[in-house]
Amino acid sequence: MSKDHSEEIYPVFDQIINRSDKEKLLKQKAKVIWLTGLSGAGKTTIGASLEKELYNMGYLTQVLDGDNIRSGINRNLKFTEEDRLENIRRIAEVTKLFLNCGIITINCFITPTESIRQIARDIIGTENMIEVYINASIEACEKRDEKGLYQKARAGELKNFTGIDSPFEFPEHADIELLTNNQSIQESTHQLLQYVLEKIAY
Ligand code: ADX
Repeated sequence: MSKDHSEEIYPVFDQIINRSDKEKLLKQKAKVIWLTGLSGAGKTTIGASLEKELYNMGYLTQVLDGDNIRSGINRNLKFTEEDRLENIRRIAEVTKLFLNCGIITINCFITPTESIRQIARDIIGTENMIEVYINASIEACEKRDEKGLYQKARAGELKNFTGIDSPFEFPEHADIELLTNNQSIQESTHQLLQYVLEKIAY
């Protein structure tokens, strides 16, 4: 293993309050709850619902999602494979800052391919990450089409749309899968809550 020079270069690392001190303050274990799935599968809805439950139980969280990140720090990125990769790379780096601050993040991004998900895992560390597959069929997402994007993609007005002319690969490393075709938001949230609670308990 190569020597970590960070302390020599940045002596401030010796002085700053570290992650475990902050986890102690917050009485929680920091984790990254990463929701992957098609557009319209329910990632952000479930993420927001999970955040509410955790907030009521006294946990400090931050939801990050495609629409808000892509209108801010990642506004210069599109939906090519390369840009999606850069999107997730930056998000993973930002997420690491939250993690080191003891905060639980709930990341809601399509994260469409295994290689893109691997970038996130490599940056964040698998031990810090709970990968959640929000599994709704493309038919169900297209039928719902809350943002009208599937219609635009079918009409050829939107290129590289996930599930239409851009791939979504089955998440082989998911820790938990929520079948949102068949269950309500409350049921999915409850299932996820039960799974994460023991991992974030201090
Ligand atoms: S990711 O593939 O790079 O992980 P991300 O989660 O950030 O995607 O953004 C997805 C959101 O962008 C969708 O929910 C949708 O609202 C919007 N969007 C716009 N164009 C596309 C597209 N071509 N493919 C997928 N989502 C798109």
